[in-house]
Amino acid sequence: MKTAKLTLDDWAVELPVTVGSEGEVGIGIQKLRAQTGAITLDSGYGNTGSCESEITFIDGEKGILRYRGYSIEDLAQNATFLEVAYLLVFGKLPSEDQLSGFNSELTKHSLLHEDMKKFFEGYPPNAPPMSVLSTIVASLSAYYAPGENEAELQLNIVRLLAKLKTVAAFSYKKSIGQPYIYPRNDLGYCADFLHMMFAVPSEDYTVSPLVAKTLDMLLILHADHEQNCSTSTVRMVGSSDANLFASISAGISALSGPLHGGANTAVINMLEKIQADGGNVRKYVELAQDKTSDFRLMGFGHRVYKNFDPRARVIKDLTHSVLEELGVDDPLLDIALKLERIALEEDYFVDRKLYPNVDFYSGILYRAMGIPTNMFTVMFSIGRLPGWIAQWMEMKNDPGKRIYRPRQIYTGPTEQKWVSIDDR
Ligand code: ACO
Repeated sequence: MKTAKLTLDDWAVELPVTVGSEGEVGIGIQKLRAQTGAITLDSGYGNTGSCESEITFIDGEKGILRYRGYSIEDLAQNATFLEVAYLLVFGKLPSEDQLSGFNSELTKHSLLHEDMKKFFEGYPPNAPPMSVLSTIVASLSAYYAPGENEAELQLNIVRLLAKLKTVAAFSYKKSIGQPYIYPRNDLGYCADFLHMMFAVPSEDYTVSPLVAKTLDMLLILHADHEQNCSTSTVRMVGSSDANLFASISAGISALSGPLHGGANTAVINMLEKIQADGGNVRKYVELAQDKTSDFRLMGFGHRVYKNFDPRARVIKDLTHSVLEELGVDDPLLDIALKLERIALEEDYFVDRKLYPNVDFYSGILYRAMGIPTNMFTVMFSIGRLPGWIAQWMEMKNDPGKRIYRPRQIYTGPTEQKWVSIDDR
């Protein structure tokens, strides 16, 4: 077996090496502290592998993303979101029968318990849909058994996949004061979601097949991304044996931050700001390079992709064709294209390998589809759900599973004597 050698003061330790199926190398440090008293220090976990995983492969240098071995380009072109969800959660592409069974299970479970409507009523009218989404998902564990046996767990997986889009659409209807539209069994996954979002009881509403297809593709592109912030959160919460609903709710909260899933909203806000400021793109490209300002180009840069984000390429092409087909002329798209061109002429961005990421164009697509800005990260959550579930299951089924418990290097004061309040 291959090993790595580490020396520290008088210690010399041999560490086991694990090589993944794509040649990635991991140095095992599980026994490091016991052998040397030292730990590794890696703030932000940029060099820390937290698990072995069979789900998603990323090569950030080459711009490769594969779910269970299938390239993201291939899946975006040929698969449906439900096929990808099945692939991620169950480990292989479904047969025709498996897919139709999966589809009918998801259809059957898409209603919310009627009592849960009261929860939505309790939120203020302008409640951010992401806050509503994470709390309602957490509340599902008050309605359903925790999933302690296999049958219960499978049912909870189906329930979550089926109900998240209903919760998402209800949270939007709540935010605009319209009546909730119930799920329809005759519509596909994305068409049903769009119907719940945009239909009103007083009018006929037909979902555009182009919009439903585009949404399906966007969800595929977001379906998994190995050990990112929200996925690691889902695994970490689940490692304490917390139930699936609680773990996914925590993942939704982690996704809500502007450095993660909130970036697509931040991109639109940034483009609108540039537009309101006369469209002076160069000014903002310069500002992003100015270390005295905390302005960053939102939708640029990625912890893992240091060449290009393959999802961004698919989305960029999709954006052009969908906007053209829908007849949408969005000035923000022109600003985005200009911003990308000008930024990539600058050494600052090229040297740091900062390229548009998946969120740079996804917001423009969502706008063209009529999805409001405050729902963008909710859309991301719907897409990411199968990935979170697959990762949670893998963590749970790992024979070597232990509760996640990182260590730290303490840098605070050394021992102090208690000082009474009169003497402070
Ligand atoms: N604009 C300007 N400068 C940037 C940007 C940006 N968008 N991103 C990184 N940099 C600079 C940093 O200032 C730093 O410069 P320095 O070396 O001179 O100090 C260098 O590039 C490295 O940046 P880090 O913050 O160390 O990179 P990290 O890998 O930690 O962060 C992140 C990655 C969070 C995505 C970052 O690039 C960023 O903030 N981007 C904007 C937000 C965004 O688009 N997030 C979405 C990510 S995709 C997703 O979650 C689905």
